[in-house]
Amino acid sequence: MASSLRHRVLSASLLVCAVAFTCVSGSLGPITTNGQNYSKVCDPARFASMGLDMGGFRYCDASLPYPDRAKDLVGRLTLEEKVRNLGDRAEGAARVGLPPYRWWGEALHGVSDTGPGGTWFGDVVPGATSFPLVINSAAAFNETLWRAIGGAVSTEIRAMYNLGHAELTYWSPNINVVRDPRWGRASETPGEDPFLVGRYAVSFVRAMQDIHGHDGATGAADADPFSRPIKVSSCCKHYAAYDVDAWFTADRYTFDAKVEERDMIETFERPFEMCVRDGDASCVMCSYNRINGVPACADARLLTETVRDAWQLHGYIVSDCDSVRVMVRDAKWLGYNGVEATAAAMKAGLDLDCGMFWEGAQDFFTAFGLDAVRQGKLRESEVDNALKNLYVVLMRLGFFDGIPELESLGASNVCTEEHKELAADGARQGMVLIKNDHGRLPLKAANSVALVGLLQHINASDVMLGDYRGKPCRVVTPYGGISKVAKTTSLHACDKGACGAPGGWVKTVDATIVVAGLNMSVEKEGNDREDLLLPWNQTNWINAVAAASPSPIILVIISAGGVDISFAQNNSKIGAIVWAGYPGEEGGTAIADVLFGKYNPGGRLPLTWYTNEYIGKIPMTSMALRPVADKGYPGRTYKFYGGPEVLYPFGHGLSYTSFSYASATTGASVPVKVGAWESCKQLIYKPGTSASPACPAVSVAGHGCQEEVSFELTVANVGGRDGSHVVAVYTVPPAEVDDAPRKQLVAFQRVFVPAGGAVQVPLTLNVCKAFAIVEETAYTVVPSGVSTVLIGDDALSFSFPVKIELGAA
Ligand SMILES: *[C@@H]1O[C@H](CO)[C@@H](O)[C@H](O)[C@H]1NC(C)=O
Ligand SMILES: *[C@@H]1O[C@H](CO)[C@@H](O)[C@H](O)[C@H]1NC(C)=O
Ligand SMILES: *[C@@H]1O[C@H](CO)[C@@H](O)[C@H](O)[C@H]1NC(C)=O
Ligand SMILES: *[C@@H]1O[C@H](CO)[C@@H](O)[C@H](O)[C@H]1NC(C)=O
Ligand SMILES: *[C@@H]1O[C@H](CO)[C@@H](O)[C@H](O)[C@H]1NC(C)=O
Ligand SMILES: *[C@@H]1O[C@H](CO)[C@@H](O)[C@H](O)[C@H]1NC(C)=O
Repeated sequence: MASSLRHRVLSASLLVCAVAFTCVSGSLGPITTNGQNYSKVCDPARFASMGLDMGGFRYCDASLPYPDRAKDLVGRLTLEEKVRNLGDRAEGAARVGLPPYRWWGEALHGVSDTGPGGTWFGDVVPGATSFPLVINSAAAFNETLWRAIGGAVSTEIRAMYNLGHAELTYWSPNINVVRDPRWGRASETPGEDPFLVGRYAVSFVRAMQDIHGHDGATGAADADPFSRPIKVSSCCKHYAAYDVDAWFTADRYTFDAKVEERDMIETFERPFEMCVRDGDASCVMCSYNRINGVPACADARLLTETVRDAWQLHGYIVSDCDSVRVMVRDAKWLGYNGVEATAAAMKAGLDLDCGMFWEGAQDFFTAFGLDAVRQGKLRESEVDNALKNLYVVLMRLGFFDGIPELESLGASNVCTEEHKELAADGARQGMVLIKNDHGRLPLKAANSVALVGLLQHINASDVMLGDYRGKPCRVVTPYGGISKVAKTTSLHACDKGACGAPGGWVKTVDATIVVAGLNMSVEKEGNDREDLLLPWNQTNWINAVAAASPSPIILVIISAGGVDISFAQNNSKIGAIVWAGYPGEEGGTAIADVLFGKYNPGGRLPLTWYTNEYIGKIPMTSMALRPVADKGYPGRTYKFYGGPEVLYPFGHGLSYTSFSYASATTGASVPVKVGAWESCKQLIYKPGTSASPACPAVSVAGHGCQEEVSFELTVANVGGRDGSHVVAVYTVPPAEVDDAPRKQLVAFQRVFVPAGGAVQVPLTLNVCKAFAIVEETAYTVVPSGVSTVLIGDDALSFSFPVKIELGAA
């Protein structure tokens, strides 16, 4: 402990000398008290500088459990002091040694300085690695990648924290499912499938929070989840049913989402449940919207009953920024004033209020908490509970005691070559080859290319970084990346959507690459899309360039949501299409590596690409996932929509090589013993089906869930290039069950297969997890009958039946 502490002080002071050329006696450090920086709250010298003797403060006694220490700390505060620590800019209480703390941090795809929090760039930390946007990472279908990115982000945060450039609490990831293709925030999310989104959440949160040897799985030392040390606090947001930002007259502050309980369980809550139960996230953020009339941030059933009690959150619940004010100002919920809304939210289980100071007001909890208690609307013990939830998290983060093994991280751990390479690798893995007629791609390095498009896309130094960005280490644009590998690269920028007639250049080059797409003026937080088309006349000039080009052109699409490019789908003059998402600071390198074949693409679309006709059939504000017969709504996502308006399906993605599947499995029969105490649930069967099993389905809640289906899949690379392949495993519920998903993703694995080689992929599906459906009254049940395991897609698939027989134990 002592030696690593000395190491930290040494490296930190060296930095000060190197930068300022003068060696000051102080050092960098996260906690500034009376002009000096300290690495932790409970430092005797820090207390002494405030005229206090740390020995008298039990909350600094490292031998006591965190909950006891938090209780001691809260017990020392007056009611006024308590209330001043319920907002994101907590004042602390110098009287008892508690420093201020800024809770608001963002790290969606790299350390960000969004928000008025304590994370900032400059002097010793000019930037941080800007990874691809989450929709790109999701397209890689690679949990190892997600963990690697989360680990790099949390390392950069911890390094910046040591230097006084960051706090320890970050409100990432965003795990709302993309229910509707118009949603403006698709870039921030892992797409439309709740299981994929949930797995992303678990991987990212674990990598942000877990410290090696303290992941809660390694024995007695970590048996108490409230003492488990964490590297950085990660927060799953926005809970729940939040995915309308601004669509015609609907906006997120006034929107009241009408949601059936079945959709809550099956789709909207599922990623959050996985995030809390399997990821052990230390924070959940509630959303602005109401759900069936009740604001998410004042719903005791959602917060206390579900997140804290049923899922066992070890952490705190924070509002989205201004959620409490939104109840009063926008939703005008129950005509409540600030005091009443504050009391309702705290009573429902909200611990921390993030409020927007720039409108000249404080956050609501700080402004109205005192009156809420004085007027008898809120108990002081409820305030105490909220604060204890907050301080236990800060203790686990080492804010009070430090975490010696993380204290040697410094500026040399930010923007490392390794992290920049990971950003490039992530971008490569997420690229989706949508179309590749007659092997138009890859190009050869000896090729001369013309690059056409809006300057913002060809030279996408800004667009590639997307939202919730920080300052990147550097930016490699598509032009920058391609001009490094092509023999010659000419650039033909279109101005304000007009490209003019393609000049003679189009005839003289080996390949014309058009980079087109969207930007954050089209799809962003607070801004849903009005249509799914390419804006700014791009379709017209892409067609013009394609028509003029002697050889089929290559189209690279920059976007998060799907784009209706049906004009390109069967146009033989457009030979290849690559979806590049918003690929982060190294995006240009990744695009070049894919186009020129240095990397064989293996990404898959994490959401359905619809044609524009689809959105005319369903308003964004209809929350139902299943088709709504009486209104003619056709259903949403690959799980429930089976109509014609799919341009490219969820999971679509090509490769420069070919794969084949083989398996010895022909099917399985799984007896499931249902105990007398377990309840059989009724199912609704399709009209005309004669199924009438004695026990139609068993609720997973009361079942032991030991039954598994195991099999092995051989993935062979039968083409000429090494490549990665995503094995996507779906189950299809028994055909006779009405209103079930068409299919549902239950497992996935990205595997590398050398040309001519094969790999065995062992897969084990738990019956309660992989074969369960959510029945009409919102119970999660395993249906009896013949389900199907379906691997792959229309291009390459393998399937077998699994007969589930529910019988008396
Ligand atoms: C404390 O840290 C800040 C950076 O957060 C730095 O600007 C300041 O000089 C440091 N103070 C001392 C006394 O080292
Ligand atoms: C591309 O962007 C970079 C960085 O913003 C800029 O320096 C360069 O001039 C741009 N290139 C063109 C052709 O506009
Ligand atoms: C859009 O493109 C078409 C065809 O290239 C052209 O005729 C038209 O003038 C363009 N419109 C704008 C607004 O640039
Ligand atoms: C998006 O592109 C349009 C058209 O070129 C431009 O007017 C707008 O400023 C861009 N927005 C952003 C955020 O880059
Ligand atoms: C392109 O061709 C496919 C296969 O023939 C067809 O299903 C699809 O509808 C066509 N797309 C367009 C936009 O015409
Ligand atoms: C998954 O991601 C990791 C980390 O970036 C990478 O090393 C590995 O090659 C990837 N797996 C495949 C099959 O692409």
